[in-house]
Amino acid sequence: MSVTVRVPAKVNVQLAVGAARPDGFHDLANVFLAVSLYDEITATPADGLRVTCEGPGADRVPLDRTNLAARAAEALAERYGRSPDVHLHIAKDIPVAGGMAGGSADGAGALLACDALWGTGASRDELLAICAELGSDVPFSLVGGAALGTGRGEKLTGLEVGGDFHWVFAMAARGLSTPAVFREFDRLGEDRDIPEPVADQAVLDALAKGDVAALAVAVTNDLQPAALSLFPELSDTLAAGRAAGALAALVSGSGPTTAFLAPDAKSASDIAGVLRASGTCRDVRTASGPAPGATVRD
Ligand code: C5P
Repeated sequence: MSVTVRVPAKVNVQLAVGAARPDGFHDLANVFLAVSLYDEITATPADGLRVTCEGPGADRVPLDRTNLAARAAEALAERYGRSPDVHLHIAKDIPVAGGMAGGSADGAGALLACDALWGTGASRDELLAICAELGSDVPFSLVGGAALGTGRGEKLTGLEVGGDFHWVFAMAARGLSTPAVFREFDRLGEDRDIPEPVADQAVLDALAKGDVAALAVAVTNDLQPAALSLFPELSDTLAAGRAAGALAALVSGSGPTTAFLAPDAKSASDIAGVLRASGTCRDVRTASGPAPGATVRD
């Protein structure tokens, strides 16, 4: 018997970042939108804990206990006094080290898969608490849809979304480390006062109305200057997407995946074609959001 869970990627339509806290994390106002690129995590009984991975970038996914999927299994097993004897297989489609919460998706997916496989029957709140221990973006991977994340991003408030938004994602030739991007954010902000991060009402209203033109002018990402500072070539990808007709072009989360908001599905596929031919990125995908959170597959 095995259990397979499908988990979406995310894009941040607003990422407001405060000053570094004493614990090194940053307070955020993080408006997450789940999009229809998915990893699938399959949990199968085994003699010990084992992680395998297939798909684009799988060779860059750690298969040891640092993998969030392995840590999720260990955390659930420890809480329920059992051994984490499970084989977790990750079928990857979310870009690795791309700023789209691929690792977090695997953590949330493994947690839900092990819960179902072992029949632990953990409550939603317990699962969310374990997710928050695993990483700042992991709770959102579990719930999906759209949400405002505060604190370090783990305290979620669900958001209404009044329609589908169509996106193009350009994958970069290499990854960016999230801690390195936050460190660069700190370095770039050394000489100025960093305001408290607050959710932008214009972003929330645009989501609620399903208004793509309004969302396009409202999207912001405070980590974008830091990501561009570490990876200047991303400016060329952003420019190519804008020239191809994207309503908005931004770095996704800590990057280096770039995200382009399109007026509709047809335009998204046209923009994807132009970006693919531009030579400014490694791969291009289209997706729409909101997408459902981690879901056990039949
Ligand atoms: O929470 P998570 O393990 O995903 O965070 C990865 C890294 O990103 C942290 O170690 C920290 O360097 C940075 N981070 C941060 N502030 C946040 C979230 C993440 O500084 N709110």
